[in-house]
Amino acid sequence: MSVPGTEQSMTQGDDVVAFLQAQHREVEQLFSQLSGGGEARREPFQCLVQLLAAHETAEEEVVYPALRSTGADGERIAEERTAEEDQAKKALSELEKTDVTGDDFNERLEAFRRMVLEHAGNEEREVFPRLRQSLDPDKLRSMRTAVEAAERMAPTHPHPHAPESAVGNLLAGPFVAIADKVRDALRGVTKR
Ligand SMILES: [Fe+2]
Ligand SMILES: [Fe+2]
Repeated sequence: MSVPGTEQSMTQGDDVVAFLQAQHREVEQLFSQLSGGGEARREPFQCLVQLLAAHETAEEEVVYPALRSTGADGERIAEERTAEEDQAKKALSELEKTDVTGDDFNERLEAFRRMVLEHAGNEEREVFPRLRQSLDPDKLRSMRTAVEAAERMAPTHPHPHAPESAVGNLLAGPFVAIADKVRDALRGVTKR
């Protein structure tokens, strides 16, 4: 006799929801690394931009279309969460124009942090459980495979000791540029 819930949690551990939740925890960690000031912020901020570009693009391209397919409530939730993402992207584009060592950065970073963490919390409350209730576990695992393949093609964690490498060059730059690369990679992967 199997323990209730055991089988299900074993299959959920490698699905797209588990992957995105783990990225939410990484985002929280990067925000806490940014709480110090000055030059030391530059690298964690760039990591945060890269991670969010990969994460939000994967949600837009893979997760929200699947959520919309789950009916009227799914469509409504997707609209609300997408509006939050759009607001956060605007806040981030302002933040990217701000010197990381300057005073303005603190205030804008704090506003952005609150927006991103509230959005992530809303996804964990409304989006992720609905995906697991409505979609087949195989579908959720194949979504993860696609997202991971796209992130490998457009790597989002360049080696910190190789800033001159092709990967470092590819990923330097603002959120929108990185998001475009991840989007292209995802569309290539999901078309196959
Ligand atoms: Fe999101
Ligand atoms: Fe998310």
